[in-house]
Amino acid sequence: MEEDNITETLRTENLEIDLLITAIKGKIGYDLTGYARASIKRRIQQLVIDENVNCISDLIPKLLYSRQCQSNFINRLTINVSELFRHPISLLRLRESVLPYLESFPRRDIWIAGCATGEEAYSMAILLEEAGLLNNTQIHATDINTEVLKQAKTGILTKGLNKEDAARYQASGGTSSLSKYFSTAYNKQKLSQNLLDHISFSHHNIIQDQVFCSAQLVMCRNVMIYFDLKTQNRALTLFNNSLVQNGYLVIGEKESLVNSPLSSLLTTIDEPAKIYQRKSSEHV
Ligand SMILES: C[S@@+](CC[C@H](N)C(=O)[O-])C[C@H]1O[C@@H](n2cnc3c(N)ncnc32)[C@H](O)[C@@H]1O
Repeated sequence: MEEDNITETLRTENLEIDLLITAIKGKIGYDLTGYARASIKRRIQQLVIDENVNCISDLIPKLLYSRQCQSNFINRLTINVSELFRHPISLLRLRESVLPYLESFPRRDIWIAGCATGEEAYSMAILLEEAGLLNNTQIHATDINTEVLKQAKTGILTKGLNKEDAARYQASGGTSSLSKYFSTAYNKQKLSQNLLDHISFSHHNIIQDQVFCSAQLVMCRNVMIYFDLKTQNRALTLFNNSLVQNGYLVIGEKESLVNSPLSSLLTTIDEPAKIYQRKSSEHV
């Protein structure tokens, strides 16, 4: 009897989530169907608490009529955490195996998909500057969340520069002082303008939009982890199609190409560092 009640509650909750997903898609155009269900469910349950409502259904009118609630939901859903020189071993390997390849091009394009508040793009600009490759390189940083893009464009670090950032910079092969790439005003650190000038920040939805640009290097880290398997494959296809022949793809520490049909189109360069290279000119 108790088991029946639990099953019934779960069924109702799933129905409420489906209704909410439909409302979000209709109202703000965000299609949540490609995100892993468990992850969406956790965010929605957290929003029930934040918005002080009794159940998921009660969220629907709030999401339909309150811009503030929509913005809270998008911020909660998109998980905009980032940091400078995240997964430093990956960036160390990137310095060693990808930067020499980039050097062979007179002009370079790098796409950073799901850039959040910009730290990944800032780190990339520093790596390129240190390799003497920043001139003639354009970093295209994109994200679905327009609020974080606004922040990223300023070049100002959301959390300031700290010891951990410096340690990760060094672990990624950095030999200078990280602070030299930032100016400080009113207690806030801002990326030097000459580095920031090489980064453009734009809106792009990996789940719904087409290839953003043609690139020698695509980085998409800690984004696909929130997608279901079908959407992960769609994203990987998009990235593969945006790479020039022999271009490189870098994904997040906890992400994988295992079980993906895309694994046959990419050569593994370094599995722990999550660096892959496009094999042929065949696009899927
Ligand atoms: C956890 S952050 C990762 C930030 C950065 N790549 C890093 O590894 O530090 C995930 C980012 O992916 C973005 N995101 C989520 N879904 C997306 C989508 N469908 N298209 C583009 N960006 C998306 C979120 O807005 C968020 O800024």
